[in-house]
Amino acid sequence: MKAGFYQFRPLFGKANQNCQKIISALENVDADLIVLPELALSGYYFKDKSESLKYSEDPQNSKHLDSLANLANKNNLHLVVGFAEKQGEQCYNSAALIGPNGIEHIYRKVHLFNEEKFCFDPGDTPFIVNNIKGVKIGMMICFDWVFPEVTRVLALQGAQIICQPSNLVLTFCQQTMLARCIENKVFAITANRYGTDKRPQGSLKFTGMSQVVAPGGKLLHRAASQRDALFVTDINPKDADNKMITEHNGVLSDRRPEFYSLLNNL
Ligand code: ACM
Repeated sequence: MKAGFYQFRPLFGKANQNCQKIISALENVDADLIVLPELALSGYYFKDKSESLKYSEDPQNSKHLDSLANLANKNNLHLVVGFAEKQGEQCYNSAALIGPNGIEHIYRKVHLFNEEKFCFDPGDTPFIVNNIKGVKIGMMICFDWVFPEVTRVLALQGAQIICQPSNLVLTFCQQTMLARCIENKVFAITANRYGTDKRPQGSLKFTGMSQVVAPGGKLLHRAASQRDALFVTDINPKDADNKMITEHNGVLSDRRPEFYSLLNNL
């Protein structure tokens, strides 16, 4: 399978331009799966919930998501794209899995980062695995990386590739994802934006360095910090099915959940 990411710098509040930028970049791409950043259509640094609602999109009625679905159809590929999702008066920091026939799944970010708590409703969708062309993919968004439980519940459901749209401002995620891929023996594609959102309430600079990591923690590619990057590589998703870390240790089968029961109660 040919999989990778497109790293770019979304402009705040300019969904038409951001969408067009994605479409131009991926117009001739030869890939099965491309991961895009978090909030790739709207930009990131909202000042409050009324502003995030203003820039959010109802997936049933979004010309931008429709254009990305056309792109997926034309190029016979799947996209994972972060967007601000409007559902009535609720607004979620979401990721859509879009295939040649349209939206296949929407994941709503469960762990909101910092001031996102004032702009979004907490995600209410479970972590599930989607089958695309026989490959099992799981989605998480950016700050979900801090919670190892997320990758683990996706791996336990058979996820072979973790897709992680991101707008990272802290510097630890890229290295941490190597560990997530060691302890779960999965692939992970982190698509991070770069550039700065300059807003009245302050500025946030994003770290780029999108990456693809193989099961066992091998870094297949990491992009530069502050420039556009389209990267696609051939991977064999079945490499994620071998969960043995030594001849006698499986990262999933050696777990002793009876010793982790505190996790269920605290
Ligand atoms: C983040 O979750 N966007 C840091």
